[in-house]
Amino acid sequence: MTTVALLGTGIMGAGMGHNMLAAGLDLRVWNRTASKAAPLVDAGAHGVDDPADAVRGADVVVTMLGDAGDVLAVMERAAPGLARGQVWAQMTTVGVAPLADLAALARTHGLVFVDAPVLGTRAPAESGQLQVFAAGPADVRERVAPVFDAVGRETVWLGEDGADAAASRFKLVANSWVMAVTAATGETMALAKGLGVDPAVFLGAIEGGPLDLPYLRVKSTAILDEDWTPAFSAANAAKDCGLIVDAGAAAGVRLDVAAAARDRLRRVCDAGHADDDMAASYLASFLREDASFLREDED
Ligand SMILES: NC(=O)c1ccc[n+]([C@@H]2O[C@H](COP(=O)([O-])OP(=O)(O)OC[C@H]3O[C@@H](n4cnc5c(N)ncnc54)[C@H](OP(=O)(O)O)[C@@H]3O)[C@@H](O)[C@H]2O)c1
Repeated sequence: MTTVALLGTGIMGAGMGHNMLAAGLDLRVWNRTASKAAPLVDAGAHGVDDPADAVRGADVVVTMLGDAGDVLAVMERAAPGLARGQVWAQMTTVGVAPLADLAALARTHGLVFVDAPVLGTRAPAESGQLQVFAAGPADVRERVAPVFDAVGRETVWLGEDGADAAASRFKLVANSWVMAVTAATGETMALAKGLGVDPAVFLGAIEGGPLDLPYLRVKSTAILDEDWTPAFSAANAAKDCGLIVDAGAAAGVRLDVAAAARDRLRRVCDAGHADDDMAASYLASFLREDASFLREDED
């Protein structure tokens, strides 16, 4: 039986952990806030207080934390329990440049580094329907397959060297689309409100046509219901937009839409919505303390 150490049981890690248990994997869980790991412990996982105890003897270590800095800090705490040859499936969205530090840490400890971000949000994580995009040596794919098969509906291998960030580069491309759609949905709903246009008329006009999109339906419904229950937090979305902008810039690609989406998300985070769903970026259009955009009209 595959023994898995899952470090991080937030929105994504919690759902993934339940599916690992359902698949019959032997699961150890650690989370900074222990109460968030409690439902997994109740469901049969072995809860530990120290990441080093989670990883000791595990076949596969999975990290599903906030960003690369979190991953580095937690894996450094786990270091006393790590063993050479262990497989590390790094599933947090960390971007391109920050991945280098993680790959270096893996090298230091002799870990087999698998770059393995996921596509899909809270619901696919809970139903085991994520898409795993991975890069790592061909000879460890069988060892991680029980884990990836438990959490996802498919695994797409994009390379043989995790340190090359092939999967993380793909993840940023995919998320640039997610972030652009979310930002555009928020702005369109905000403009409709501002101009006194019934959003239902807009949504009805495009229904079933080439401009329609299931994701627009999900996020516009959340906005219209003012339901900010997080599937993907504004804080993580702001982080991802920043990673996208940085990776683009490093590659000589200017990304204005991602930068604007990042700035809108940062504004709502600063206004107290960091833990709300990223759909709350809609509110960035109405934060009157930042009314610099109105000045042109006033002059
Ligand atoms: N939600 C999505 O739709 C989605 C989809 C694909 C990928 N992702 C990516 O997957 C990752 C996890 O997302 P999520 O939605 O599960 O996020 P989340 O709910 O915010 O969970 C973040 C996890 O990281 C932990 N953490 C944060 N900072 C830490 C630190 N300094 N030290 C130790 N632990 C720390 C949190 O611990 P506490 O519980 O103690 O705060 C929590 O377990 C992120 O990189 C995100 O961008 C998210």
